[in-house]
Amino acid sequence: MSNSDNPQSPGGGQQMWGGRFSAKPDQAMQAINASIDIDKRLWREDIEASLAHANMLAARGIITQQDNAAIQAGLEQIAAEIVQGTFQFSRELEDIHLNIEARLTERIGEAGKRLHTARSRNDQVATDFKLWVMRASREAGDGLRALQKILVKRADDHTDWIMPGFTHMQTAQPVTLGHHLLAYVSMFERDRVRLIGAALEAAWECPLGAAALAGTSYPIDRDMTADALGFHAPASNSMDAVGSRDFALAALANLAIASTHLSRLAEEIVLWTSPQFAFASLSDAWSTGSSIMPQKRNPDAAELIRAKAARIGADFAALNAIVQKLPLTYAKDLQEDKALTFASFDEFELCVTAMAGMAETLRFNREAMREAAARGYSTATDLADWLVRELKVPFREAHEITGRIVARAEAMGVRELGLLPLGEFQEVEPRITETARALLTVENSAESRDSYGGTAPQRVREQVARWKEMFE
Ligand code: ARG
Repeated sequence: MSNSDNPQSPGGGQQMWGGRFSAKPDQAMQAINASIDIDKRLWREDIEASLAHANMLAARGIITQQDNAAIQAGLEQIAAEIVQGTFQFSRELEDIHLNIEARLTERIGEAGKRLHTARSRNDQVATDFKLWVMRASREAGDGLRALQKILVKRADDHTDWIMPGFTHMQTAQPVTLGHHLLAYVSMFERDRVRLIGAALEAAWECPLGAAALAGTSYPIDRDMTADALGFHAPASNSMDAVGSRDFALAALANLAIASTHLSRLAEEIVLWTSPQFAFASLSDAWSTGSSIMPQKRNPDAAELIRAKAARIGADFAALNAIVQKLPLTYAKDLQEDKALTFASFDEFELCVTAMAGMAETLRFNREAMREAAARGYSTATDLADWLVRELKVPFREAHEITGRIVARAEAMGVRELGLLPLGEFQEVEPRITETARALLTVENSAESRDSYGGTAPQRVREQVARWKEMFE
């Protein structure tokens, strides 16, 4: 999010709804009720929606053209004040909607008081917030795209580097580093599509004009405001329009899933950069030192991504719990939607930026990865496959034969199947040849897995090309 949607703090002001009250609210009442410190970030959307609303009121003859002209000019000036940092935000005025409206009236007088005709803060906040979430979702998608480009480039540089592939965190089969990195590119693509898709869905219906909850008796033109704000249509049910926040829930769920993927990659970076794995090392810019142990290079950013992913998931859970027990329509509980959503988008942006920085500069250790790939008899499946292919042994039997050979190697302390003398193979299955034994290298193993979507360097190069084409 740009910093310009996060302007400075409140000053003083006056209640806008005080007509039926004789005493001022308690200080703590004001403190619990005021949302301006959070929702001032909606200022841009609030002004945009007010401009559209006023234009519509004038077009329908609900306010005069002169009043509309004053409102339009006044709102533009307020936008300038906020950008310049001279706007005085007031907690007494509760939220961004009342702050802007009060300032408008201060500037242009009576015409400012006509802006709130045929609307309510309920449809106003639903509209503003929806617009904000749509924009933020598209920006989050852009961030993921930038990260994908970096990962594809790193994959391209390492299409045939061999590393162990794991299941159950046990060495399974050799894979290529390029293939491993592209797995995340696929995940982030789905995350991106979900974010963009939810933003498109949110753009379907515009809440503005639903008014407090039941619609309005003024002859408004809801198509006009929906259109001006980039929505396909006005919301077809006013109660749904003011009472629903599933657009924000969807965004948070999407961020939660995407940050889960970021967290898994972060976890791998933590493992890979540990001296025990030594598969990779982080650049200085993305490592931290220890205040006591001079040798340390800590992957703090990766660890924090893991932790922040947990917080983003919790923000989704919190908003979901807030909404799920509310009878229709609006209740003030919904005001808490913004703090959770803003925090998640902020944290997510930071996580993506940090991940991009780490991914771009991570240095991989070819030898360590290759060596680890050969350990744990990772080419055993290749021997079983050879028995099936060349000797027409049924796979289940081939599995059994290979298992016995692995057990022999283990008993003899030979760490790689390819290093076991041929005679040992032939003790178990006399028809195994030197050619078969020679096939049991990690390179051959990876190269042989050339089915579509497989780990063979040739397949990885194809996928790199496919991604690059998609990015254009
Ligand atoms: N600040 C409020 C929110 O974010 C705006 C809507 C207030 N509506 C009301 N009827 N008090 O939810």
